[in-house]
Amino acid sequence: DLNPIEKAKYVSARRAVDYVEDGMRVGLGTGSTAAWMVRCLAEMVRNDGLNITGVATSTRTAELATSLGIKVVDLNEAKWLDVTIDGADEFDDNLTLIKGGGGALLQEKIVATASDKMVVITDPTKHVKTLGAFPLPVEVIPFGWQTTQSLIEKALVDLDVDGRNITLRLNQDASFRTDEGNLILDLHLERLEDAQQVSHVLNQIPGVVENGLFINLCDVVIVGAADGSAIVRD
Ligand code: A5P
Repeated sequence: DLNPIEKAKYVSARRAVDYVEDGMRVGLGTGSTAAWMVRCLAEMVRNDGLNITGVATSTRTAELATSLGIKVVDLNEAKWLDVTIDGADEFDDNLTLIKGGGGALLQEKIVATASDKMVVITDPTKHVKTLGAFPLPVEVIPFGWQTTQSLIEKALVDLDVDGRNITLRLNQDASFRTDEGNLILDLHLERLEDAQQVSHVLNQIPGVVENGLFINLCDVVIVGAADGSAIVRD
């Protein structure tokens, strides 16, 4: 009795755990789709005696995984991972992603980079021809964040990208804080033609910690469907 989108998320998560083998170190993504994957893995640990070590990409995911009986260690202890399974907010035909809708992009990018393989689990609403309809999240240090925002605006103008619409992410009435205590600026770009260039320029600005573009990190995207089928793109 899941709604069609939830069902599609579950189906993609169910398919993704096929990439996990006994003894693996597994990066655990964040978000509603990744939560299904954590539940599927926990079931395999419980029912099939699967032995894995998880590294979580957020405190939220760490809590969920631990509560369901998955062993979770920090990345320093695991050092390197066999596979990371995570969701995405958008992906294009090159498997470039926008992530960070849940605010966990920094840990997600560190964990994905430290993995032999990144498997991304999605539903059909996440596929786009051109990235950017989903606002691009940028994690910034609180110190001087408004100045950082101005520098971002200027850098985007220099790139001929319309970056006038930038919003500070809120959590109820307060500013949203990441697991690292930073802020998120959401860049409403509408169209992002050159993700590589935008990502590079953003990350050169002091005060910017990381942005939500995942370029050359994703190896496989699984798109689940409500009818139980899944398309695997790699
Ligand atoms: C978390 O910071 C994000 O990168 C998520 O992976 C992304 O927002 C996807 O979330 P859902 O699976 O809930 O759509």
